[in-house]
Amino acid sequence: MTELDFFSSAKKRSAAGRLARLDTVNETMNSDEFNCYGFEYYDNPDSGCGYGGYSYDGRYAETAQQIINHYQLKPGDSVLEVGCAKGFLLVEFHKLGMNVCGVEISDYAIKNAHPLIRHCLVRASAADLPLQSNCFDLVMSKEVLPHLTEADIERSFAEFKRIAQDSHVFLEIQCAATDTAKALCFKWDPTHQTIQTPQWWRRKLVDALYQGDFHLKEIFSA
Ligand SMILES: C[S@@+](CC[C@H](N)C(=O)[O-])C[C@H]1O[C@@H](n2cnc3c(N)ncnc32)[C@H](O)[C@@H]1O
Repeated sequence: MTELDFFSSAKKRSAAGRLARLDTVNETMNSDEFNCYGFEYYDNPDSGCGYGGYSYDGRYAETAQQIINHYQLKPGDSVLEVGCAKGFLLVEFHKLGMNVCGVEISDYAIKNAHPLIRHCLVRASAADLPLQSNCFDLVMSKEVLPHLTEADIERSFAEFKRIAQDSHVFLEIQCAATDTAKALCFKWDPTHQTIQTPQWWRRKLVDALYQGDFHLKEIFSA
């Protein structure tokens, strides 16, 4: 189990930028559309929280190449992303010759996914994957586990282990070191269910006998 940071090169909003947007949070954040990961969650620029508009911009091209190099993937190898949203990371793996598959709970994200890989996405939960065992060369999940209950996080760990060959799993996990940062995470994205400290996540991974790699990302450092 190694801590690896593949996403530092990808374009992202700064913590200060997130804080500025939080000042404009409105009632959208409690709507069903937001909480079911619909238009309000990904694409409403006026909501003040969440994505506020999520369009393809190629931000993950370099990251995909770094991950391929690290896991020594070859064209034709299979890559699964769980909680892939609109597939903007997966499409970069597709462009680099991988066979890709995405799992998403959001119908809206699947319908609005990148057209090159939309047909490769299936609607399911990370906690119960409708996929055969040992069938992927790499399983990834980026900023998804904190959206699950603790029981479903544990089920997801078991699913990732079941599906990945050679324990090739990479998890990017949002966390918060302080109560203030935790409160900001929930305000930023009220669909979070399990925002925990880095220490909590490290213990959880050890207790789950997790053998893949991971990165803990503090969205707010307050
Ligand atoms: C913060 S977004 C991250 C999306 C994408 N991985 C990214 O980094 O842009 C969280 C994603 O997890 C998905 N999600 C939430 N619960 C899920 C579940 N039980 N199974 C699969 N996906 C889930 C949401 O629909 C949403 O697309």
